[in-house]
Amino acid sequence: MKKNEHDRRNLMGLALGGFTALGGLGALYAVKRTWDPLPSVKAAGFTTIDLSGAEENVLNIEKWRGKPIFVLKKSKDMKPDDRDVIVGSDRFHISIGLCTHLGCIPAYISDEKKFKCACHGGEFDSSGHQTFGPPPSPLEIPPFKVNGTTLVLGEEGSEFLKMKAAGIIA
Ligand code: FES
Repeated sequence: MKKNEHDRRNLMGLALGGFTALGGLGALYAVKRTWDPLPSVKAAGFTTIDLSGAEENVLNIEKWRGKPIFVLKKSKDMKPDDRDVIVGSDRFHISIGLCTHLGCIPAYISDEKKFKCACHGGEFDSSGHQTFGPPPSPLEIPPFKVNGTTLVLGEEGSEFLKMKAAGIIA
């Protein structure tokens, strides 16, 4: 083989090797992009709620991961419960606002301080315990974290983990 031809072959080999390496990197990048959550999914994973302006016995319905979330600041005459989320000197009822029977959204009747589900007449007290009708279990508590007067939904804070350890949350 002449020297020039040898050099050309070496050059082509190097170029092909380079393309192969680039292809490999591209494939790795594509795989990583598939594994990474989309930015919108990441942002939608957490919902931050400022509880400082909450009024007693007024139900606020927030949204987290497409689900309604009940946020109810309990008044002093409401019975304290192990399911209460304590923020400073206030107690809150926080739950996923879907009836545990078949998933309807119960309404909050402030005069009676209870939730009533119009679908089959199920009822829950202001702590989310089922008190009447077909619901088989209390309103579900979403993962949460208390940060000052802010509630972060989607994060398992120490209060949530304590409830879990005590068997309050399944
Ligand atoms: S869905 Fe609520 S009582 Fe049936």
